[in-house]
Formats: sequence, C-alpha cells, structure tokens
Amino acid sequence: AKIKGADVLVIGSPLYWHNICGSVRTLLDRFYGPVESGSLKGKLFFLFQGAAPEKWMLEAGDYTMRRFASLYGLSYEGMATNRKEAVRLSAKI
Ligand SMILES: Cc1cc2nc3c(=O)[nH]c(=O)nc-3n(C[C@H](O)[C@H](O)[C@H](O)COP(=O)(O)O)c2cc1C
Repeated sequence: AKIKGADVLVIGSPLYWHNICGSVRTLLDRFYGPVESGSLKGKLFFLFQGAAPEKWMLEAGDYTMRRFASLYGLSYEGMATNRKEAVRLSAKI
C-alpha cells in the first residue's frame, strides 16, 4: 500500500554476481501476479553499486528497472552508480 501511494520510489541494490542482488530481484518477482500492471504511480530511481562493475552489468540492471517501471506504471528517472551520478539524479526528484 505504501509503494502504491508513493510519489517517489528509490530501489537500491549492490551488484552481486554481475547483476541485481537476489533479495531485490525477489522483490521484483513477488510483484509479478499480485500487483496489477499499471497500478503504481510516481517516479522510480535506481541506485546500483558494484566494486568493479562492467558496463554490460550496469546496463542489465538499468534495463530490468526500466522494464519494471514501465510494467507497473512508474516513471523511470534513471540509475546512479556512484555519488556523482546520485547527486546529478537527485535533481529529478
Ligand atoms: C556475493 C557478492 C558478489 C559480488 N559480485 C560483484 C560483481 O559481480 N561485480 C562487482 O562489481 N562487485 C561485486 N561485488 C561487490 C559488491 O557490489 C560491493 O561489495 C557492494 O556494492 C557494497 O560495496 P562495499 O563492499 O564497498 O560496501 C560482490 C559482492 C558480494 C558479497
């Protein structure tokens, strides 16, 4: 209910084994079915941190979040992978 009422949703994940970590992925999995597509509103921001991420790993996480946002009706505002990007992204809140 809180997620449904939120204007801003921030999802953060460490980069584990080249991708979004298991617990965040499980959260996305659990939406599938119980949460009706298009039933959320507001902005989605994604924070994704790895120790030494390669470009394709970051792109995979960004792609998943973009698709998640689009399926459930959120406006995907983008991903930050370091402090500098997070500061830039925060201007969109
Ligand atoms: C199980 C595990 C798998 C990880 N896999 C990756 C990985 O594939 N690529 C990467 O860049 N960092 C990887 N890391 C590093 C984490 O992304 C990093 O520890 C996390 O972002 C938290 O940062 P910190 O350790 O500086 O607090 C992994 C860490 C763990 C514990």
